[in-house]
Amino acid sequence: MEHESPHREVDAASQPRRYTKPRRIAVLTAGGDAPGMNAAIRAVVRIGAAAGIEVLGSLRGFEGLVYGNFKDLGGRAVANIIQRGGTVLETSRAGEFRTAAGRARAAENLRYRGVEALVVIGGDGALQGSAAFADEIGINVMFVPASIDNDVPGTDYAIGFDTAVNTALQAIDRIRDTAFAYERVFIVEVMGRDSGFIALEVALGGGAEAVVVPEFDINVDDLCVRIEQSQLRGKRSSIIVVSEGPRTGGALAIAGAVKQRLGVEPRVVVLGHIQRGGAPTARDRLLASRMGAAAVQGITDGHPPALIGEKRGQIVYSPLGEMVGEPRRLDPDLFKLVEVLAT
Ligand code: F6P
Repeated sequence: MEHESPHREVDAASQPRRYTKPRRIAVLTAGGDAPGMNAAIRAVVRIGAAAGIEVLGSLRGFEGLVYGNFKDLGGRAVANIIQRGGTVLETSRAGEFRTAAGRARAAENLRYRGVEALVVIGGDGALQGSAAFADEIGINVMFVPASIDNDVPGTDYAIGFDTAVNTALQAIDRIRDTAFAYERVFIVEVMGRDSGFIALEVALGGGAEAVVVPEFDINVDDLCVRIEQSQLRGKRSSIIVVSEGPRTGGALAIAGAVKQRLGVEPRVVVLGHIQRGGAPTARDRLLASRMGAAAVQGITDGHPPALIGEKRGQIVYSPLGEMVGEPRRLDPDLFKLVEVLAT
C-alpha cells in the first residue's frame, strides 16, 4: 500500500484563494459612462474610509492601471459629485488591458502602489477584462454593473439605465405633442447597439405604436400594417421606437422603408448620447450607493471576486468568472405588451 509523503507538494492552483482585508484598494470606471457612476465612486470611497481602507482612483478606466495614472481619493475628494452625470475618474474602452501583457503591466503598477483589491464600475465589456484580471493575477475584484444599456448579467438593473430611460421618455413626450399636432409618424432612435432594454421600456412608458429591437425580428411590412391599422382606428399620429445599430438598421433606414411602402414622410429623431448624460435619477443614485457600498463590504469580508447585482430589490454577489458571457434576455411578454397597449 502506498503512503502519502508528509512533504507532498500542494498544487497551489487547486487551492481556493484566500482574500484578506486590504489596506489599500483602487476604483475605476470603464466603458461607456453612465449616470450614477459618480455616486458609486463616492460610496466606494466613503465606505472604504469608514473601514480604514485607503482608496486610489485609476484614471480613464483600465488605462490608469496600465500606465500607472492614479489619484488619491480621500473622503472629501468625492464631495458634491453624487448628483453629477459622467464620471470624475473619466473612462475609456479597455485598449491595452485587453492583452495579457497589458494586464501584467497593470498588476505590476498595483503591486508597486500596494493596491490589494479593485472595484470596477462598468458595463459588459469591462466585465470580461475584470474576470480575466482576477483569475490571472489573483487580486480580488468586485464588479459594479453600470451601463445605460442594462445588458450586464447577474443583476436586474445596471446603474444608469433608469436615468437613460427617463431622459428618452422626456424627449418622447415632447415629440408626441408635435406628432399629434401635425398628424405625423415619428421614428425615434434610442441607444442600445446590441440590446433593446432601453427601447422596450421607452416604448412602453411612452405609449409607442411599435418597438424595433436587436433581439426580435420585425418585418417592415408588419410595421406598416400596424401603422395603417392604427390610423384606421382613428389614430392620427404614431411613434415607433427603434434601437440603434446594424441589427435593426436604425431609424433612418426604417423611415425610408416606411415612406416607400406607405407614401408618408416619417420624421426621424436620433436621441444619441443625450441619453448618456445628465443628473442621475433618485433610483440610480440609490442603486449606485448600495452597490458601491456592497463592493467594499465584499472586499473587507474576504468575499472572492464577484459581480454585485440587485435582484428583486436585494443585493446579491455572483461569482465573477461565471458571469462572463451569460446572456441577459429581453422579456418577450413586455415586447408583446407594447403592441397590445397600442391598440
Ligand atoms: O454605453 C453603451 C452605449 O451607449 C451603446 O448603446 C452605444 O452603442 C455605445 O455605447 C456608443 O458608445 P460610444 O459612442 O462611446 O462608442
